[in-house]
Amino acid sequence: MRILLLGSGGREHAIAWKIHQSSLCQQLFIAPGNGGTCQFGRNIELQLSDFEAIKNLCIEAQIDLVFVGPEEPLVNGISDFLKKDERLKDLLVIGPTKKAARLEGSKAFAKSFMQRHNIPTAAYKEFTLDNYQQGVHYLQQHALPIVLKADGLAAGKGVVICQNHLEAIAEFELMIQRAKFGEASKKVVVEDFLEGIELSVFVLTDGESYLLFPEAKDYKRVGEGDTGLNTGGMGAVSPVPFADDAFIQNVKSKVIEPTIEGLKKDGLDYCGFIFFGLMKVGNEPYMIEYNCRLGDPETQVILTRLKSDLVDLLVATAKKQLHTKTIEVDNRTAVTVMAVSKGYPGHYEKGFEIRGLENNYGTKSLIFQAGTKKQDGKTVTNGGRVLCVTSFGEQVQDAVESSLEVLDNIRFSGIYYRTDIGYEFKNQPAQ
Ligand code: AMP
Ligand code: GLY
Repeated sequence: MRILLLGSGGREHAIAWKIHQSSLCQQLFIAPGNGGTCQFGRNIELQLSDFEAIKNLCIEAQIDLVFVGPEEPLVNGISDFLKKDERLKDLLVIGPTKKAARLEGSKAFAKSFMQRHNIPTAAYKEFTLDNYQQGVHYLQQHALPIVLKADGLAAGKGVVICQNHLEAIAEFELMIQRAKFGEASKKVVVEDFLEGIELSVFVLTDGESYLLFPEAKDYKRVGEGDTGLNTGGMGAVSPVPFADDAFIQNVKSKVIEPTIEGLKKDGLDYCGFIFFGLMKVGNEPYMIEYNCRLGDPETQVILTRLKSDLVDLLVATAKKQLHTKTIEVDNRTAVTVMAVSKGYPGHYEKGFEIRGLENNYGTKSLIFQAGTKKQDGKTVTNGGRVLCVTSFGEQVQDAVESSLEVLDNIRFSGIYYRTDIGYEFKNQPAQ
């Protein structure tokens, strides 16, 4: 098969690594890709917002299957756009339709979906300029802390947790009146705060049946001990020691299955991954958010544990034959540690040479590149999150130590990474 993977992050490097291993993959293209993805296929320079260019590439390169990595093209309707061209009628696309991608593209849509299908989630109300004063009143009476969410995509920054009413009202005004997140915050979801531990669960679905992938926990804060600003993710762990079989069964029956049924009932055509962002409150799962794709850096600990042929699963998904497949998972623990540019998630510089990538680090660790590019034969930094190292271990701690050993040998100006990924689970064996 000729496969096109869209995206340029560490997630896409991990997906490319996995696709490349499949005997079904004849040729892989990655658009735009990064300094690492070209190890496994051909990078094609294009903007992901340029749907015409993506379509032309599919036609000219005779692509059989497209895998859409990030959310933005999905929310903007890339799946529908490609499939409506007569020349691409046989193209297999992994990624939901525009309508179904609203599960990620609109928090208000996702909340009403959850409510309609009895999926446990925090109580909420939605506000716009039209009922702004009602919103202020609602906030004044609300228990603390209060969670404010911009309705649309805001590059992971649209959620603000407010500790007092003044702060909440100021934030509410910024979002709605002053368009803090542009169009995305014209509508705001105000939600009850959930106290618990977060984890992410992933399924691949063809809209009828689903396969459960390994779960993961990511570390969003930039600083050790979960302090400092939110980032795209500084590391991840899989499996999650507190997600035992009983809890996962609960997630299946209360969250995953009602979601798949809900998609069917609402006539939403879904073909691809669903990322369930969950809060474990006591022993119960509550939905925080849906994402219509795999996570970054969660993918770097999930796909590395997947023993099955990913392309075989993707083809079955796109052909609505997923019920014929099962998956096999490595039961070791995988941990990934992200190395970022100095200053990230604030201002940072790019273009620094990265050394140490080509050393032999053995079979315990894998390096996935994110914000990197090739320049004059060298690999240089090209983003905030630069690369991550995924390692395996019997325990979280072994895996973290292996990743840190590799990172000790990788150098670029201003390199920073957290040394405490998985700190809550030190010395706990995988389930
Ligand atoms: P989201 O963009 O929806 O994933 O939200 C970003 C982060 O905000 C989540 O990962 C949680 O840590 C936090 N969060 C979102 N909603 C809630 C909630 N209702 N209660 C507590 N924390 C929340
Ligand atoms: N790591 C969180 C995400 O991919 O959305």
